[in-house]
Amino acid sequence: MNEPHYYRTVHTAVHMNMSSRKLIGASLSLLPVIAVCSNIPSNIFNAASKRHLSQCSADQSLSEVEKAKRLAGYKSIDNYVKSDMIVGLGTGSTAKYAVERLGAKLAAGELTNIIAIPTSVATEKQARQLNIPLATLNEYSHIDVAIDGADQIDDNYNLVKGGGGALLREKMVEKSAKTFIVIADSSKVVDHIGPGFPIPVKLCY
Ligand code: A5P
Repeated sequence: MNEPHYYRTVHTAVHMNMSSRKLIGASLSLLPVIAVCSNIPSNIFNAASKRHLSQCSADQSLSEVEKAKRLAGYKSIDNYVKSDMIVGLGTGSTAKYAVERLGAKLAAGELTNIIAIPTSVATEKQARQLNIPLATLNEYSHIDVAIDGADQIDDNYNLVKGGGGALLREKMVEKSAKTFIVIADSSKVVDHIGPGFPIPVKLCY
């Protein structure tokens, strides 16, 4: 597994004059994050107890990319989440492995007193099924660590998010976090962000 690197998120805001429907400016907001990228699936279960194994995704049925996503997701919980934390839970096919690992560690008693803030209905549903205690940003506005996937990551420490359609809640949760962990497989790393992927925007007027 690669060492964590420091990246910045790119949340694109497009400012429009709504009466004329003209674009009057665009800006990027940057947020420091730690990214956990993985490309070589290793023995992820080295540090896990047997109790974890029964609750984790079956190894044989996963593709290499899926194993890399799982490695990043599991490591984000193992390395950055401690008992008594408030944790922001992201959305997507990588974040679901972080949720899975968090649920398994809570069930095994290896983590206690966790409160999770989900960024989407899908993540909330998965967390409920795993008996992860949930709350909202209205109840807890200071999050210890937020964990989420990304759509593209470049060599200049920028990344794009929002392709999964949960951008607003993700941004609210991740901006409220002391530490933001981005988890991704190596297919998300690109030379330049943008080409080949539609940049998610929010309209401000
Ligand atoms: C959701 O809006 C996105 O920002 C996701 O975080 C991103 O799309 C995750 O991608 P994966 O599903 O590939 O993890």
